[in-house]
Amino acid sequence: MNILVTGGAGYIGSHTCIALVKAGHSVIIADNLSNSKSKTVMKIMDIVEEGVNFHKIDVTEEVAVEMIFRNYNIDGVIHFAGLKAAGESVEKPIEYYYNNLVSTMVLTKVCQKYGVNRFVFSSSATVYGDNNVPFVENMELLPTTNPYGETKAMSERILTDIANANPLFSVALLRYFNPVGAHESGLIGESPNGIPNNLMPYVTQVAKGKLETLRVFGNDYPTVDGTGVRDYIHVLDLAEGHVAALVNLTKGVHVYNLGTGKGTSVLELVNAFELANGVGIPYEIVERRHGDIASCYADATKAKRELGWVAKRDLITMCRDAWRFEKNYKE
Ligand code: NAD
Ligand code: WQD
Repeated sequence: MNILVTGGAGYIGSHTCIALVKAGHSVIIADNLSNSKSKTVMKIMDIVEEGVNFHKIDVTEEVAVEMIFRNYNIDGVIHFAGLKAAGESVEKPIEYYYNNLVSTMVLTKVCQKYGVNRFVFSSSATVYGDNNVPFVENMELLPTTNPYGETKAMSERILTDIANANPLFSVALLRYFNPVGAHESGLIGESPNGIPNNLMPYVTQVAKGKLETLRVFGNDYPTVDGTGVRDYIHVLDLAEGHVAALVNLTKGVHVYNLGTGKGTSVLELVNAFELANGVGIPYEIVERRHGDIASCYADATKAKRELGWVAKRDLITMCRDAWRFEKNYKE
């Protein structure tokens, strides 16, 4: 299939492009490079040893999106493009609502016009809010603490309404848990701007000596050791989950958790990283971070049952691959 990958130069999108090409599909990347670099596209080509099509466009711009649909025979869309920093979204709500909602509306509008009925959307476990773990797809969604989370819940709603109105439309809403790690080549991975908000890139930068000490946000949660528990998933497993969703997509709306189903605490992740890489991670316990929940992990059985997909890579592999990328990475 010819797959339009919006946000394909970004962290999850770039790994998914590799998985798509490996599975025999052709990839057309549309990315405005607002949070990524064009050299990532070159690295994708190095890894897959073939060309991929790249268009530097903003997917909120209908004319630019339509140009792509006119130039290629698109069979499906995977929509990664979006702003994703939950904390930043509180400061910049308009940017988040505009970018994340208008992109979804423009893409689906053009899909309808060109008869493209396969759509895969990047949602997030954040839509579960503070439900009880493990999170199951049919749980009622709870309000999130930030506009970013709301854009995911609203986009899910928009896509569901479109599928209800058009019986030919097929949509997969993929709720990711905590993607970490990198391609085993060490060529592509996660390279956030400024000081990382997320745990794994913070840990790798401490390991590299770019940052001094990891601050562990709270050790008084009702968890195994008091620190926050999350479902870390290797980005390549996540990428393969997209291929499985795309290939198995049938008419209507299908929601899938993409996680491992296993919770890991902050201190367990730090220990695994030290063990995997033989590097010490100095840390201190500080106050809880505003907006954090104690535990977040998936019930991952639906994706296994319906898509035949399970996350295969373990925490040690995630830590090793994340560190290999960070060691190699130059600004
Ligand atoms: P990323 O920032 O690395 O990738 C997003 C890409 O989209 C970037 O390359 C950026 O330049 C591009 N982009 C943003 N707005 C655009 C626009 N209007 N037009 C064209 N390109 C645009 O982020 P990621 O971690 O790869 O996340 C991909 C998707 O997955 C996002 O929608 C994000 O909300 C979602 N998600 C991410 C996580 C996570 O922890 N990384 C978890 C759950 C969901
Ligand atoms: C993981 C754990 C922290 C940093 C966020 C978004 C979410 C989703 C994924 C997009 C928590 C602790 C972290 C640090 C720490 N993104 N931590 N010290 O908060 O689960 O999810 O990214 O959809 O929407 O909110 O991920 O990696 O920030 O935190 O102790 O320096 O690590 O408290 O328990 P989170 P995270």
